[in-house]
Amino acid sequence: MQVIRTIQKKRGLILGLLAVELFVFVVGGLIGLRIVREQMASMIGERVKADNARYAENLAGVIESMGVTTPEHAAYGSPGWQQMQQAVEQIELPAGGFACVIDQRDGVVCHPDLDADVEKNKGSSLLYADLGPHLKNINEVAGGDGRTTVGQSYFLADGVHYIATREIAGTGHRILVHQPAAGLVSVSDALTTPLMLTLGIVGGAVMLLTAGGSYLVTRRYEHALEGVNTGLENEVQKRTRQHTEARNALIFGLAKLADSRDPDTGTHLERLCVFSQTIAEELMRRGGHPEVTDAWIRDLRLAAALHDIGKVGVADSALRKPGRLNDEERAEIERHPQIAADTLLAIYQQMDDDPLIAACVQVALYHHEKWDGGGYPFKLAGEGIPLAARIVAVSDVYDALTSKRIYKPAMPHDKACAIINEDAGTHFDPAVIEAFNAVAGRFPALRDEVENDRHMPLSGIFEADNNGAVTQGR
Ligand SMILES: [Fe+2]
Repeated sequence: MQVIRTIQKKRGLILGLLAVELFVFVVGGLIGLRIVREQMASMIGERVKADNARYAENLAGVIESMGVTTPEHAAYGSPGWQQMQQAVEQIELPAGGFACVIDQRDGVVCHPDLDADVEKNKGSSLLYADLGPHLKNINEVAGGDGRTTVGQSYFLADGVHYIATREIAGTGHRILVHQPAAGLVSVSDALTTPLMLTLGIVGGAVMLLTAGGSYLVTRRYEHALEGVNTGLENEVQKRTRQHTEARNALIFGLAKLADSRDPDTGTHLERLCVFSQTIAEELMRRGGHPEVTDAWIRDLRLAAALHDIGKVGVADSALRKPGRLNDEERAEIERHPQIAADTLLAIYQQMDDDPLIAACVQVALYHHEKWDGGGYPFKLAGEGIPLAARIVAVSDVYDALTSKRIYKPAMPHDKACAIINEDAGTHFDPAVIEAFNAVAGRFPALRDEVENDRHMPLSGIFEADNNGAVTQGR
């Protein structure tokens, strides 16, 4: 899963980089658009100023060539003036531009909105309108003879105008050419907008391709690594399962080895495992014991097999004695829980808090304790006795009662159940007995299944041992 988390982090990083890329693209594009437009406007402005100067020079040259070369020739209402008025009316400039003629006092004398017929100009506010304020910045000399100036006017109501002036030789009048900047901005926009749209579309397409490519590459690596990860997980699970099966087989083998000293028990251990498992499952179904889970039951099933492993340390004189035991022999027998616990605790310390070995210790050490405190080795009582040991205690006695021994026949199931129920609350936990009573009807069939090797998968690796002596219940 670490690999998957790493992939997801990389995918997030790619998405983050794409987001940053998009942000930079949009902001950069807007800034770039503004710079390009300003540069375009500046370039167009310089070009317009040069064009205006050329228009003014050409118009002045036309007027001069018509013989308008003295103040009298250019006087308002004279034939020369009429020629100048007709000339400014006819000239056509792009983007709203126009030309006019101003006198020595910067007053308008010819304008496209005036007329060559002086009668029609009577009352016109345009005639002799003072353009002086608009000419304050028109001082940049253009042309080779120094008679032409260009610049920008900021004083007109419709915004900035590019203006050029040109003297009409000998008349004291000047040609004045206007070009509104607003028209140039629209020209600039008209030129730059398609360019920026094209760049935006191309940039967006590149980003989409980058995002799609990154996503596909990430997905491909993700799938590949998921496959590797799944393979590794399966291998780990397989190795873990093999390890667990080997451990369980060894534990069960150890139990069978210990049980081999106990003649006439047959498949006692396998039956004990199955009976304990069945009671525990009923307890889990009934509730009230939250510690009882499927894993807990699996550990209990194996731990039950080890309950009497301590008998390997008990003297044969007591263990194999067929008759009644004296006090010394009984004390020897009662050492077996502690012997088992000492052995299992040594294993437990080597296995890093293994819950299975912990369950084995509990069952081996406490399976002879009694609910009323009358058991051994510690005379624990009630719930002070681990639940696993309380369950195995019931299973152990049931199997001992219903199994044939060399000194007794097998007790019928019903009679064994009656004896066990008599000890509920004294020897056995009443709650465990309730669960036992609920499932005990299945025990004879379970015994048949175990003895026919149909129920317990582990039983196949053990050989049944029918040579032991009777020790159950001691
Ligand atoms: Fe025992």
